[in-house]
Amino acid sequence: GPALTADHANAPSLAALGEEASGCKRCDLYRDATRLVFGEGPRDARVVLVGEQPGDREDIAGRPFVGPAGRVLDECLAEAGVDRNICYVTNAVKHFKFTQRGKRRLHSRPNAGEVRACAWWLGAELDVLRPTLVVALGATAAYALLGNGIKVTAARGQVFVPPSGPPVLVTIHPSYLLRVRGHADVAAARDAFVEDLRHIAEHAG
Ligand code: URA
Repeated sequence: GPALTADHANAPSLAALGEEASGCKRCDLYRDATRLVFGEGPRDARVVLVGEQPGDREDIAGRPFVGPAGRVLDECLAEAGVDRNICYVTNAVKHFKFTQRGKRRLHSRPNAGEVRACAWWLGAELDVLRPTLVVALGATAAYALLGNGIKVTAARGQVFVPPSGPPVLVTIHPSYLLRVRGHADVAAARDAFVEDLRHIAEHAG
């Protein structure tokens, strides 16, 4: 995938990387976002969770997965028996991309060029952390980590081993669970997500 091609031989600490990233102009998304949202979590994390991009709440707070999708993620991780505190949490794209609708800022999906530009940072994070498992939450993360040819609906629950870099477990994005309508469908979608997350313990335990 595009994340794993850069040379990070001299990669410094996560704090130094985050500091360096805060001024990033590798693509244009820095222009409208409040700030860059870097990953966070312990230096010795064995598991790295990768989302799509910060949302409205993350853009304001400056931290990944602290909004509604983050709450669902936390609940499902707990249900799967995974402690979020052993995970490093980050995003494929580190600036919030949105379209303005009155006072509301509506999430807008990052394009392939933006994902590729930002993959430099994701690769740098993985080079420092060297996790035993990376979890791709949704299609954007799967593209960043594994490139084209991964369909989340077909690939979910499976672990892929890229030519270089750690194995990648593919699953859905938790925000999907916020969009499903109907009690039975929400419960089924949520159970399936928790089931995918249970693989984390097997591969990183
Ligand atoms: N959705 C994401 O993909 N990442 C976040 O940090 C928050 C919501």
